[in-house]
Amino acid sequence: MITRRGFVRGLAAGALAMPSLVGRASALEAVPLSVPPLIDTTKTGGRFAITAKQARHSFLPGKPTSTFGYSASYLGPTLRVRRGDKVAVDFTNQLGRLTTVHWHGLKVPGNVDGGPHNKVLSGRSWKPVLEIDQPATTAWYHPHPHGETAYQVYGGLAGMIIIDDDVSSKLPLPSNYGIDDLPLVIQDRSFASDGGLLYGQSPMTTMMGSYGDTVIVNGAIRPRAVVPAGLVRLRILDGANARVFRLGFSDGRKFHVIASDGGLLAAPVELNELTIAPGERYEIVVDFSNGRAADLVSLDADTGFRGPGMMGMMMGGTRQQGAGPILHFAPDKSRPGTGRLPDRLANVPDFQIPGAVRRRFLSLDMMMGMGGMMGGSMMGQRGGGAALGINGRAFDMERIDFRTAIGKPELWNIRANMMGHPFHVHGTLFRILRLNGRRPPAQQAGWKDTVYVTGEAEILATFDKAASEQAPYMFHCHILEHEDGGMMGQFTAA
Ligand code: C2O
Ligand code: CU
Ligand code: CU
Repeated sequence: MITRRGFVRGLAAGALAMPSLVGRASALEAVPLSVPPLIDTTKTGGRFAITAKQARHSFLPGKPTSTFGYSASYLGPTLRVRRGDKVAVDFTNQLGRLTTVHWHGLKVPGNVDGGPHNKVLSGRSWKPVLEIDQPATTAWYHPHPHGETAYQVYGGLAGMIIIDDDVSSKLPLPSNYGIDDLPLVIQDRSFASDGGLLYGQSPMTTMMGSYGDTVIVNGAIRPRAVVPAGLVRLRILDGANARVFRLGFSDGRKFHVIASDGGLLAAPVELNELTIAPGERYEIVVDFSNGRAADLVSLDADTGFRGPGMMGMMMGGTRQQGAGPILHFAPDKSRPGTGRLPDRLANVPDFQIPGAVRRRFLSLDMMMGMGGMMGGSMMGQRGGGAALGINGRAFDMERIDFRTAIGKPELWNIRANMMGHPFHVHGTLFRILRLNGRRPPAQQAGWKDTVYVTGEAEILATFDKAASEQAPYMFHCHILEHEDGGMMGQFTAA
C-alpha cells in the first residue's frame, strides 16, 4: 500500500526535490487545520477504545492516499487523562500486521508500556490499565513493533495524550481544546504522483533516517487555523521519522515555551525559534491579540550531521526541503482570547545528585565505512546494510542490556556518533544535567523523556515502576529508522 522506494530513486528524489514544499503548498487552497477528536477519560468512566486500521486519507485534492490510522483515516484521537486516575484501554489491531501501542512519555510499568514485547497480533485486542501517576504534560502514543515502527508511524499511526493535574487546572493558561489549546503533530512525508505515500527504504535511509519533501501538520499540507485574537497554546509534537524541526513565525514574533516532554517548566521561556527533535514535545503560548495573521514556519534545521562527502551533500538537500511555512494562523478579531500567561508555572525541583549513583555510558554508534554503509553489520547482528547499535551492539529482543533498581537515581552519559540522535528512554522522566559540557538551555531544563544529542549529554533518571525481562523498558534513538535498524537496547527495573 505504501510504496517502499528503492535506493537509487530515493537518491534522485532527495537531490531534486528541494523547492517542492513551497511550490506544492502555494498551489493548493488552504484546508482548515484538523484537530483530532478528544476522548476525555474523566467523562467516559475512565476508559477509551481505539482501533489501528488501514484507511484512506486526503492530503492532495482528488488523490486519496492509502494510510494507517487509530480509529481515524490518519493519526488518532487525543486522549485526555488526569493524574491519579486509572484508565482502561481497549485496543484492537485491524492493520493486517503485528503491532504494539506504546504510550510515549507515560510512566507506566513495562507490562503495559506497549514496547516491542507487548505484541498485538492482527485481529486481536489488548486491554492494559494505565495508572496515571505523573505531572500534567503532553505525551503521545505510537506503534513500537521491532523492525516496523518506522513504516507504521510513517503510514499514520500516532496520537496525542494530554495529562492534567491540580497544578495545570489552576493555571490561567489557554485550555479550551481545539479553540485556544491546539495539538500539532508535525511530520514530513513524500507523495507519489498518484497521491500514495512514498517511503524511502534503503541503506541510505537506514543510515540517515527517512525524510519527506513535504511538511504536514495534523495530517494536512500547510493548513489554516482560525484562532481567537489572544493567547493560543500549541502542544507541539515532532512526530517525524527523522526530521529535526527548527520552528519560528513568519514575522519573527516571540512566543513562550511553557512545557517540555515531561511537564510544565518552572517559568515561561521567551524565544523566537525552537528546535524540536523526533519524539520531543513542547508546549508554547503565542500571542495573537494584535489580530495579525502569521505563519508557523519550518526554518532550516540542523541535522547535526558531521560526516564527509556525499552524505554531507545529501543532508544539505534534506535540510532545504523542510524549510517554509507549514501552518497559517488567522486570528479572528471578533473573538478575544481568554487565557493568560502566569509568571510562574510549576514547581520543578533542582536535581540533587546523590553521592553513590550508578553511572552508565551509552554510545550511539554508526559504522560509516564501506563495511558499515554498504552491507556490513555490527557485531554480526542484523545484516543487510544495518550498522547501527549502542555500545557496539545492535538491539536483540532476547538480550537484557542492564538492570536498574526501582527508585535509585542513575546518571547516564550518552554520546552521539556521526550525527545528532534524539535519545529516548521508557519508564522515566529525566533531567538533562549537561549538554555538550554545558547546562541545558532553559526550555530543556525541566522534565524530559527525549534528548537530542549532537555530541554528549548527561542525564539523571530514576525508574519508579517495574519492568521485567518479559516486558522490559527500551532506550533508543527516536530516528525511527535507527531504532528499527538496531540503535536500541532494553533494561529491567526491579
Ligand atoms: Cu516514542 Cu520507544 O518510543
Ligand atoms: Cu517511549
Ligand atoms: Cu539516531
